[in-house]
Amino acid sequence: MFILFTNCLRLHAIELLTNMIFCVIIQEQEKLMNLNADKEMKIVIVYYFSGTGNSLKAARDIAEKCGGSIASMRVPAAPTESGGAIGFVFPVYYGGLPNAVRQFIRQSDFTGGYFFAVATYGAMSGGAIDEVNALLLDKGLGLDYGAGVRAYPNYIAAYPMFRNAQRTAAKQDKKIAGIAGEISRETRNVNKKPDFTRKTDAVNILASKDCGFTVSDDCVNCGMCAKICPVGNIELADGKPDFRHGCEQCMACIQWCPQRAINYGNKTQKRRRYHHPAVKAEDLFV
Ligand SMILES: Cc1cc2nc3c(=O)[nH]c(=O)nc-3n(C[C@H](O)[C@H](O)[C@H](O)COP(=O)(O)O)c2cc1C
Ligand code: SF4
Ligand code: SF4
Repeated sequence: MFILFTNCLRLHAIELLTNMIFCVIIQEQEKLMNLNADKEMKIVIVYYFSGTGNSLKAARDIAEKCGGSIASMRVPAAPTESGGAIGFVFPVYYGGLPNAVRQFIRQSDFTGGYFFAVATYGAMSGGAIDEVNALLLDKGLGLDYGAGVRAYPNYIAAYPMFRNAQRTAAKQDKKIAGIAGEISRETRNVNKKPDFTRKTDAVNILASKDCGFTVSDDCVNCGMCAKICPVGNIELADGKPDFRHGCEQCMACIQWCPQRAINYGNKTQKRRRYHHPAVKAEDLFV
């Protein structure tokens, strides 16, 4: 009788222990599922500025890999985003940021989150990433991750456009795939200490350079230039572009005009036009 009783007790104890172990396993699984759910729900927004599509393509690739969305930095945008991952993708101009990107970050009111910046450049990324870090530090934030990616050099007013657009685009895409992977793992590679900042009050010497633009009689009043200008610097007067001296020199109007009617002085008439092969003009309209 006593043996039967102790055996019964032992069986109950084993049952109790097994139940407890199952409970703990289920609770841990639920915790893991919640964590994964949090990860999936996390907001990733990639702000871009782009004239000829290199930076737009990079932003699209990153957003796709990270399950996020893209948004234009067209002035005057001043969004407020809380938490999540927030990124900036832009071309390097004169070793630094396009003025519109500088203004966009200054005007925006971001809180918390993981911040990343990706600069597309033709030859050297210069101090563009440091500048984003400095602008974010001014807001009490700071950059977590920064990278540069060599892309097609598009400054048609300064030099001719090369033939190797497809090859350069393929190399850009490959490099971006690696960068997007690092961003999705929330890699950190930027020192947020304030002494790593650089001057961010650069004078915009490019704004009135549109005085050098000409429009030939080949213009068919299609309005493409006004739609593609990322800073609304073109108004149509009798169907022809009128430049308002708030230019970023992004070269979009020259590069995308279907008639090759816009030129910079007498420098660009014979130069081939460029845009990223995977980007269409409409992709850049907002
Ligand atoms: C006004 C201007 C200045 C530029 N300055 C630089 C530079 O300092 N260093 C560099 O490597 N590329 C420079 N570039 C090349 C662009 O950074 C590069 O082609 C970029 O990928 C263009 O991006 P987008 O297609 O998104 O406009 C410049 C281009 C322009 C139009
Ligand atoms: S894009 Fe070219 S053709 Fe069209 S309105 Fe502008 S200048 Fe004229
Ligand atoms: S006017 Fe032309 S070069 Fe200047 S910002 Fe607009 S699209 Fe770019």
